[in-house]
Amino acid sequence: QIVERHAIAGPDGAARGAGTTAAVPAPFHEATDELTRFMMVYKFGLAEIRTKIDILAEELAHRGTGNPIEHVNPRLKSAASIAAKARRIECPLTFDDLRARIRDIAGIRIVCSFVSDVYTVADMLTRQPDVNPVQTKDYIAKPKDNGYRSLHLIVEIPVFLSDQVVAVPVEVQLRTVAMDFWASLEHKIYYKHNPDIPPALRDELAAAAEDAARLDKRMERLHQEIHGPRR
Ligand code: GTP
Ligand code: MG
Repeated sequence: QIVERHAIAGPDGAARGAGTTAAVPAPFHEATDELTRFMMVYKFGLAEIRTKIDILAEELAHRGTGNPIEHVNPRLKSAASIAAKARRIECPLTFDDLRARIRDIAGIRIVCSFVSDVYTVADMLTRQPDVNPVQTKDYIAKPKDNGYRSLHLIVEIPVFLSDQVVAVPVEVQLRTVAMDFWASLEHKIYYKHNPDIPPALRDELAAAAEDAARLDKRMERLHQEIHGPRR
């Protein structure tokens, strides 16, 4: 294991970090190898979903009714974030427990033009025979108290390895550009980081989410008046 024995020099030139000395305990090596295998599967699952979404986007762009997908953002949770979430939800740090309880290691966000597109794209994806929807949280129909809106799916997708097929969970978040605008900024202002925010500001954030929702309705109406409903 060349990588693990490689000394990583800090700014002072001194070796630092786990696995930088010859005295690396055996379990670390085993865990590292297993961690790589554990993470790899999520990377593959994400690539499979990504391809499906790219295919839909490109095909829909040529269908004449316009591409409902504005942009797509895949992300893989880092080992550090997985460990942090495990601690938060009191999940033991074993691969079996992590696999069973952390379902958003692979995640992809699909930002759509209009609210109706969110549901259309979600349907197109979950109708595919190899995409198995295991959970739906519709925060558009029922927004969070803070105003957050999005459609969250957990889907399982088969990944074909050399000796087995693994059903990999992927969290798919679908939202409109307006919902994405609000969520991105709210995340910076508040989400999970600042529980001491004054109630008046919290109300204002929720009101801003309502504004974004009104803008969504308005733009969708304008689009329909000009082009008719998307087929
Ligand atoms: P996590 O442990 O954070 O994954 O939450 P959860 O398991 O309760 O799932 P949920 O479906 O509620 O949220 C999953 C993801 O949606 C989060 O990791 C965020 O990316 C996003 N999200 C949920 N709520 C909010 C919110 O209030 N504001 C913002 N900006 N994003 C949110
Ligand atoms: Mg999450």
